[in-house]
Amino acid sequence: MKTLKTTITLVALLMISSVMAQPKLTLKVGKAEKKVSPTLYGLMTEEINYSYEGGLYAQLIGNSSFKEDRNGARQAWGRWKPGGPKYWNVTDTINSHISLAMNDGINRANPISLCFDAKVGSTLTNDGFWGIPVKPNEHFEGAFFAKGNSDAPMSVIVSLVSSDGKIVYAKQEVKNIDKSWSKHSFVLDIPGEIKATKDVKFHITACQSGKYWLSRVTLFPETFKGRKNGLRKDLMQMMCDMHPKFLRFPGGNYLEGNDFRNRFDWKRTIGNPDERVGHMSPWGYRSSDGMGLLEFLLWAEDVGAEPLLGVFAGYTLNGDYITADYLDGFVNDALDEIEYIIGGVDTKWGAQRAKDGHPEPFSLSYVEIGNEDFFDRSNSYPGRYKKFYEAIKAKYPNLQIVSTIDAKMMADQAEKSGVKDIKLDVIDEHYYRNTESMYRAADQYDSYDRKGPKIFCGEWASREGKPTTNMNAALGDAAWMACMERNSDIVVAHCYAPLFVNVNPGAMQWESDLIGYDAISAYGSPSYYAQCMFAGNVGDKIVPVEASDIPTLTFGKDKLPQIYYSATKDSKNGKIYLKVVNGGSTKSDIIVNVDGAKVKSKGVKSVLSSEKPEDTNSIDNPKKIVPIVSKQKVGNKFNLTLAPYSITVLVM
Ligand code: AHR
Repeated sequence: MKTLKTTITLVALLMISSVMAQPKLTLKVGKAEKKVSPTLYGLMTEEINYSYEGGLYAQLIGNSSFKEDRNGARQAWGRWKPGGPKYWNVTDTINSHISLAMNDGINRANPISLCFDAKVGSTLTNDGFWGIPVKPNEHFEGAFFAKGNSDAPMSVIVSLVSSDGKIVYAKQEVKNIDKSWSKHSFVLDIPGEIKATKDVKFHITACQSGKYWLSRVTLFPETFKGRKNGLRKDLMQMMCDMHPKFLRFPGGNYLEGNDFRNRFDWKRTIGNPDERVGHMSPWGYRSSDGMGLLEFLLWAEDVGAEPLLGVFAGYTLNGDYITADYLDGFVNDALDEIEYIIGGVDTKWGAQRAKDGHPEPFSLSYVEIGNEDFFDRSNSYPGRYKKFYEAIKAKYPNLQIVSTIDAKMMADQAEKSGVKDIKLDVIDEHYYRNTESMYRAADQYDSYDRKGPKIFCGEWASREGKPTTNMNAALGDAAWMACMERNSDIVVAHCYAPLFVNVNPGAMQWESDLIGYDAISAYGSPSYYAQCMFAGNVGDKIVPVEASDIPTLTFGKDKLPQIYYSATKDSKNGKIYLKVVNGGSTKSDIIVNVDGAKVKSKGVKSVLSSEKPEDTNSIDNPKKIVPIVSKQKVGNKFNLTLAPYSITVLVM
């Protein structure tokens, strides 16, 4: 009887202690052998949500070549619905009017122009992309092509004016508009004593009565690193703060296009921006292609990343595809594109790059063949992939080739289409999930075959919140990033998508994005800060972590871990980086043991947290949720308190 009582007491004590046991993470620093991929954290981009036009591309005039119609942008240039040119208006509709001159343009790329039939003082206005940002002391440089119908030289006044017409921020007269096309440049300098605003329009005011024809009207503020045809400073700085190692471009769907004519045809995106045709983005609006191949490459260079190039692989979103010898032209285009990026100046396309202003070759490690070809139901991908793979490897054996379908689908489709001997270097996987699904998948790569192809997670996001994601999404993201970082011997690279959203009504096609902005300001979602924290604090070796007594969260019938983690160490400076995610509504006190290294007493932690999981940042409240940095007492064994709904990055 006594023995039975003792046993029951012992069992009860054990049960209580197992309920109460403190969660523990043991960092096996001495066993940190596997390498963290040097290209683990990167960026993914395409023209979606007005990412470039009205976004990163600093050019501020909406519809600068008059190819976009206000009734809808679906039609390609040359065919017009009668709505008139989007973003352009006249202030005085009685005395002046605008029309499109369909066969009177400046070059083959821009065969149409705007005819402004004006009286003295009539004004043509441009709305910009939901306003034009004017800040104290800003310096603008602009240009347009123009001609007039008068024998005597004509002139206009260009200006930046408040939307109500009451404040003229800057103006300049542009003279000598004669009867043949010529390009005119101007500068607009904003005085220091104004209040920053985006409630501004660009004006062109006629100084003489008569007809003015205009083409390629452009306006740039100061750009990041002062580049011509450059990029928006605040967004570039935000990306630098993400410490990206690569930039995946040009898409996404934007690579493929809705049809062949509207694919990303890189050869039409280089050289003088005034000679670029532009094309329709599959996201329903027109791209000027001011952001062309070289601009993407410079973007990567300026944020310290290398390009991760997607090449068009003969398949478009409407399901059209090209196979066999018909593909050769596209394969050659891809080879030329790679040569443009990494070829010496003694090569044809390397010389073109030098002519375009960048003699130094860029570095390139990964080339992706197409995008999301698992949507291609024709089983044509294995044949298309193989042609690209073999041609690229023959010329550039060191490049790693990325397939957009996985090994199983590749094998199935190859069998159906009779394609043999396919080699796989890297597979691109895409995951758009909610936070719960991210938690469920947070051990996904732990069990991946180490002998199989490497993984590039080229698009992923926890999709909660819009236009940008909320704290709950950041928690799911962090759990997923911890999984990828822990497994970065196999996950060689990953990037969140989509990166950008212009938050103005009508600008967003895809909800739940990383960085939001309007014409004048930008902000990061909690997910953005999670990215900065993860990518900015990573070593070169993966530290195995043993976890015990991790509490759980209940999702329906299932229990999932409440805590997710990853650790790395920097073998050069000895720093250890521990990342811990607490998805629970309560704080969690955990014990951290560090084995195999002598830890000093001082650590620094960054914590991103919020009271409620749906809390978020916004254009009006951009810094509601940001990382808070503080000191943390550390050692070989220490307590770490994880705030509710938090992401903690600890550097020891
Ligand atoms: O990121 C948005 C879209 O999602 C991409 O264009 C496409 O690749 C994916 O389906």
